[in-house]
Amino acid sequence: MTIKEIILRRLIKSLAEEKKLNKIIDNEDMKKSLPLDGVALGEKENIDGIKVRNLRLCYGKTEVLKGINMDIPAGKITAIIGPSGCGKTTLLRCINRLSEFSNNCKISGDITLDGQNIFEVDQMLLRRSVGMVFQRPNPFPKSIKENILYGIKATKLKVNVEEVIETSLKKAALWDELKNRLNDNAFALSIGQQQRLCFARSLAVHPSVILLDEPASALDPISTAKLEESIMEMRGEYTQVIVTHNMQEARRISDKVAFMYMGELIEFGETEKIFEEPEKQRTKDYIVGRFG
Ligand SMILES: Nc1ncnc2c1ncn2[C@@H]1O[C@H](COP(=O)(O)OP(=O)(O)OP(=O)(O)O)[C@@H](O)[C@H]1O
Ligand SMILES: [Mg+2]
Repeated sequence: MTIKEIILRRLIKSLAEEKKLNKIIDNEDMKKSLPLDGVALGEKENIDGIKVRNLRLCYGKTEVLKGINMDIPAGKITAIIGPSGCGKTTLLRCINRLSEFSNNCKISGDITLDGQNIFEVDQMLLRRSVGMVFQRPNPFPKSIKENILYGIKATKLKVNVEEVIETSLKKAALWDELKNRLNDNAFALSIGQQQRLCFARSLAVHPSVILLDEPASALDPISTAKLEESIMEMRGEYTQVIVTHNMQEARRISDKVAFMYMGELIEFGETEKIFEEPEKQRTKDYIVGRFG
């Protein structure tokens, strides 16, 4: 087969997939407003938050999390700070069980979300309840609309499609910018818009928790401000955990701060307290920029 034929075949295949997807999106049943299928973890009436108990994680023989105990409050914004390599991302990846995909990874201890042990529930259901936004925007090579609806289709949720697209984009402060571009490819967006689209995508499946791993590190100050505004507007509605290297950001947006160092949780408390009068010298040194 010639290269021309291979490219042509791929093009036909992707057009067929696109057609199939659009058929699902435009399906009349999908347009009806129906309750969400299946009960996700952390539905709003349960507001116990995330409880991490004696969490240990080893990659091979290296212990990366050394017995973390932490009560992440429901509906609040918790910032995780600490020097590079201290285990912030690893902790987030435990909360939605992504770490289990890594080879050579051994986890012990418990994490409960609104009273349920996350290691005992279906992973698909867990990820519907626990959304994640990564350091680099990772939209799918699909339209804006399809990006938003991806999780809904994957979990076969029956929702009012138009309503979900509009609400999710509004929550991410993107609706006005994108309402006339819903069929554009997500890759045509600026990096800042792509990251807010990823935030909107994670909101579309009605999670109760959103994990944000340095979500603004690739963004300019204006995009950062817009993203932070959206995060703050979600206060009370979602339990949010944000990893950041930016002390001002942690101070501006969070209710609680966790300071980690070499796989341990050194200090955890109200944001104002951590920044004004931390109990541990190591926290103080890190906050004032003496190390890290
Ligand atoms: N898949 C893996 N296999 C082996 N070691 C890993 C793996 N993922 C992370 N680590 C190690 O675990 C430690 C903690 O990594 P982690 O990514 O959680 O740090 P971090 O606090 O998020 O750092 P940064 O601020 O640089 O993002 C590091 O020493 C890292 O090299
Ligand atoms: Mg990290």
